[in-house]
Amino acid sequence: MKQGKFITLEGIDGAGKSTQLAWIVELLQRVGRPVVMTREPGGTALGEQLRALLLDKTMTMHAETEALLMFAARREHLDKVILPALAQDQWVISDRFTDASFAYQSGGRGLDSDKLAILEQWVQGGLQPDLTLFFDVPVEVGQERISQIKNRDRFEQEQADFFQRVRIAYLDRAKQFPDRIKIIDSSQSLAGVKAAVEQTLQPLLNYG
Ligand code: TYD
Repeated sequence: MKQGKFITLEGIDGAGKSTQLAWIVELLQRVGRPVVMTREPGGTALGEQLRALLLDKTMTMHAETEALLMFAARREHLDKVILPALAQDQWVISDRFTDASFAYQSGGRGLDSDKLAILEQWVQGGLQPDLTLFFDVPVEVGQERISQIKNRDRFEQEQADFFQRVRIAYLDRAKQFPDRIKIIDSSQSLAGVKAAVEQTLQPLLNYG
């Protein structure tokens, strides 16, 4: 069995997943796991350039172009970062992965999820994260946190109904893949979220 695990973090904008990310990495390092922390879109030189285009609010693009760019960045990310790290028995923690495409491009933008499933198969084959933490907050909570950001990006400037659809799509995915995607109630206190995350990670740590 491979030693390293592939963990992804998901949530609507403003769910507080970035705060959790640093802490999860710290927790894994504390128990002696070698960790690579990365993000999507991004994680490679090309991917970060694609990210800049995707998040640029002055940029307009067709929803399918957006999806294709997300998967192009992902292909590069798998090739340059994720697969090499897993091959070296490292743990990979990615701030977002393919569930975000199903949530944002299908749920949010309304793309046919069958098309995304084709891209998923093309880019990943059978590879899936070992565990996905979905940090769930009501849309109003996410919106409130985003409203603090001065320079909102192309996604952050979307309206509440967009994030409502994104959240529902995430929850649907969690229902579809209950063994892989764990829902963390991110509207509770920080200590409560940490405890829930730690408990969810425990089985992986025991077998890893
Ligand atoms: P995000 O992860 O929220 O980073 P930050 O905390 O720095 O704002 O930003 C990435 C954005 O990209 C986010 O709004 C969701 C979006 N996204 C998609 O729409 N589809 C995808 O497949 C991925 C990976 C991200």
